[in-house]
Amino acid sequence: MKTLNTVGALRTFRAEEQRAGRRVALVPTMGALHAGHLSLVEEARRRADTVIVSIFVNPTQFGPKEDLAAYPCDLEGDLARCRRAGVAAVFVPSPTEMYPDGAETFVEVERLQRPLCGRSRPHHFRGVATVVAKLLIAAQPHIAVFGEKDYQQLQVVRRMARDLLLDVEIVGAPIAREDDGLARSSRNVYLGPALRHEAQVLARALDAAEAMVAMGERSGATLLERARKEIGAAPHAEIDYVELRDPETLEPAPDNLASPTLLALAVFFPGTGTGSPARVRLIDNRVIEPGIASHRRARGDR
Ligand code: PAJ
Repeated sequence: MKTLNTVGALRTFRAEEQRAGRRVALVPTMGALHAGHLSLVEEARRRADTVIVSIFVNPTQFGPKEDLAAYPCDLEGDLARCRRAGVAAVFVPSPTEMYPDGAETFVEVERLQRPLCGRSRPHHFRGVATVVAKLLIAAQPHIAVFGEKDYQQLQVVRRMARDLLLDVEIVGAPIAREDDGLARSSRNVYLGPALRHEAQVLARALDAAEAMVAMGERSGATLLERARKEIGAAPHAEIDYVELRDPETLEPAPDNLASPTLLALAVFFPGTGTGSPARVRLIDNRVIEPGIASHRRARGDR
């Protein structure tokens, strides 16, 4: 496995793969890799010959009150995980490599960046769209894999790649979960055992709403109420948002569900683990289908 630190080295590696006729996949990450990230690598390996993982904690997607310096970092561990997972090259650039001195060009996906997580993190998706555009331009992969866990991010990236005429297929990979249903995230360790247990309410809220739809419920207001009640069962949970949205445009869903609809959640918990921030924000989502598929999933067949 190669470790590449400059855009020049990445381009040289990419050109060699091109000459050898190999199909290249890129998996962008910010490191601190866990089983969720590694499931994206597996998906990439199924679809391409050569997998490149990028590890870059992107400063432009962090707000002034979000602690960029505290972002977990374990480069040695990450490289070992990538090697074991069959990654061909890891791209680990410095901040000045990605943002040359005086950089002032940004990419904004104007409408999709605003709702849901964009409301509490106003510059977040501008930073994401910008860094992912740069990574795609530098690596020129045939495909790039992103997790459905960050559903809004996936839609922002899809739209950005399409609007900027980038010749890349954006692939969404399913949410990897812990055994109790909690979506895997590097933030889960900040919860401590008691709150870690409470955090199950996110997945439970999605299951409960989905089960209601499978039983014939179509009222958005009723589903939201059910999801909020489920989250409210956790004494320390504080809801940021619980919303039903169109899965592509992210516009608010009509009250009567007639087509696949995104149920998206963001919930704060107090940070109680060692070295935790004061508040930990967890997200989860599911596209609920008022049809046969949701019957299957409501029975636990995820
Ligand atoms: P990061 O949080 O490191 O996540 C990297 C990728 O892993 C994203 O596509 C994310 O959706 C995916 N991922 C994380 N947890 C997952 C889970 N439980 N199941 C499935 N996929 C999961 O997202 C970012 O980094 C950054 O914003 C980035 C796209 C790299 C741009 O800086």
